[in-house]
Amino acid sequence: MKKFLFPILLFSIIATAHSQDLKAKIKIDIERKVGEVDSLLYGNFTEHLGRCIYGGIYDPKSPQANADGFRKDVLDATKNLGVSIVRWPGGNFASGYHWMDGIGAKESRPKRKDLAWGDTESNQVGTDEFMKFTSASGVEPYVCVNLGTGTLDEARNWVEYCNAPTGLYYSDLRAKNGHPQPYHVKYWGLGNEIDGEWQMGHKNAEDYSKFALEAAKIMKWSDDNIKLIASGSSNYNDKWIDWNRTVLTTLHDYIDYISLHHYSGNHEKDHYKFMAITTRVDNIITITEGLINEVRSRYKMQKPIYIAFDEYNVWYRAFNEQKLEEHYNMQDALVVAMYLNTFIRHANSVKMANLAQLVNVIAPMMVTNDKLWMQTTFYPLSLFAKNAHGESLQTFVQSDKYDAGDYKQIPYLDVSTIYNDKTQEIILSVVNRHQDKAIETSIQNQFGKLADKATVYEVNSANLTDENTVTEQKVKTKEKEISINADNFTYSFPAHSFTMIKIKVKS
Ligand code: AHR
Repeated sequence: MKKFLFPILLFSIIATAHSQDLKAKIKIDIERKVGEVDSLLYGNFTEHLGRCIYGGIYDPKSPQANADGFRKDVLDATKNLGVSIVRWPGGNFASGYHWMDGIGAKESRPKRKDLAWGDTESNQVGTDEFMKFTSASGVEPYVCVNLGTGTLDEARNWVEYCNAPTGLYYSDLRAKNGHPQPYHVKYWGLGNEIDGEWQMGHKNAEDYSKFALEAAKIMKWSDDNIKLIASGSSNYNDKWIDWNRTVLTTLHDYIDYISLHHYSGNHEKDHYKFMAITTRVDNIITITEGLINEVRSRYKMQKPIYIAFDEYNVWYRAFNEQKLEEHYNMQDALVVAMYLNTFIRHANSVKMANLAQLVNVIAPMMVTNDKLWMQTTFYPLSLFAKNAHGESLQTFVQSDKYDAGDYKQIPYLDVSTIYNDKTQEIILSVVNRHQDKAIETSIQNQFGKLADKATVYEVNSANLTDENTVTEQKVKTKEKEISINADNFTYSFPAHSFTMIKIKVKS
């Protein structure tokens, strides 16, 4: 009998937690600084894949195209999204890409089979075109070199082509192609996901690290101002920690960042498990921070090594046949907001993040013929990019918790807090993970006086499954002003919502 009672009891405890009125407390102290939130956290990624480059950012036949063939609506939406940096040309594509194919007269560029995704690559968008895209959209370029099938010389020559003043073979070639001024590309990736067996030129940790070290040396010797990002883990098997340790140990003198990748999905159709997924991301970051500390301490390093989370997103429905055109819903928008909350909580170590990808392919914006529209995930991303700047704060959060499968003691509220001393504002970002309960939260300010009004931005929709389409934006940001009467105020975070509150502080 007892054997049966226990699960029933457990079920009713969990069910009660999900059904009773929930309360929480958040304490904000602007003196508890974690680290500066780098604007590169609001980065993105464009890969030669599906309709991201061709038919996305670049479509010379579209009525939306500018004189260079780039879609004006995509350029405008990229600015509107607040994107700071864009990684290119891949992804998996980068591991088979030979950059010399993509320069010079467009009609003479070779067509090649891309073995990463199976498409024919026309090479109509290459280095000079990507640079035009970055300057037209006001973003920083981040180039990932081919350390899969590529050579050391290719990597080094690409730096020379982009960054050297004229007078050398490759910089003169750039001038001949119409660009005498160097592009000064600062961020360079040392390959993509080389730990994955799906990668062209996959290597084990030792082989990758040796090869990447030689590439790093000659790339830095070509331009000492560049920042290098080593290919960290993307494949969280039992060897991922060893991979990151080997990479950091071998490359520590040359690299500025180690990259991490993570994709998530509601594979089990379990809301609460899906909502807990970023606790895994938090764990991956914390372990990598530990590895960085270990290596920096062993080599008595002064130079920091940061984390570039240069691919992250929700991605679980659309694979090859659909060219990865995922349609996002309200639930996915919450997960994207939680990725950003996680990066902000680790603002001392995570100094770059790139949502994969920008347009059409697992993206916050889509183009349907001549119309661009925003997916649900666009809204939290743009709110963060536009408002979430300053110092990340360590924040006390007391909230009811739940267990879901392997995920234990997950607080219903996922919170990050920033203090911007230029604008003297607190930016509080809160995801209420609860499926159907609002959470009344006492927000207590520990230092300075809060202004008597605050701006609230909310991303929400009646159903977690609500999606946007080319004709309807069910999920979007709603803005309102609220009055605050004292330093301790109460706010009720609606069920399954993302809320950002911006409040001035008078010191
Ligand atoms: O973003 C889609 C793919 O996901 C990228 O090409 C690859 O790096 C990752 O596995």
